[in-house]
Amino acid sequence: MKISIASDHAGFELKNEIVGYLRKKPDLEVLDMGTDSEKNAVDYPAMAAKVAKSIQNGESERGIVLCGTGIGISISANKFKGIRAALCHDAYTARMSRAHNNANVLALGGRTTGRGVAFDIVDVWFNTEFEGDRHTRRIDLITGFEQD
Ligand code: RB5
Repeated sequence: MKISIASDHAGFELKNEIVGYLRKKPDLEVLDMGTDSEKNAVDYPAMAAKVAKSIQNGESERGIVLCGTGIGISISANKFKGIRAALCHDAYTARMSRAHNNANVLALGGRTTGRGVAFDIVDVWFNTEFEGDRHTRRIDLITGFEQD
């Protein structure tokens, strides 16, 4: 699976850790869309847009976005059609975001989530399938809001 990942300066360190972790997994191809330093501040909406657009244009199937809390970058990603970004803090929220919400973007906070918990989250997130069934109707209702 092709995945894109991006962060602002506050998520840079954890992003790098996750890129290194995921590149060891043979079934994932990781496209690192920046940023490339924690010294220069970058605006998280611009970094969310990179990942959202790469999913919209088919360059990647899923994405990971990081800022300090994960809040601003998840709000930003969710403005793009077809994007369902979920801010996760533990394995349970990661699993439910896939099983019930069919999240295609995982948001993490570089200042709120430690490396070990983040690795657990990404493992669960990539290993959990959408359950479909009644949840499909709810996702369709969300998608319907995009037409308004
Ligand atoms: C940057 O200081 C910080 O505001 C940003 O990374 C993020 O946490 C916003 O939601």
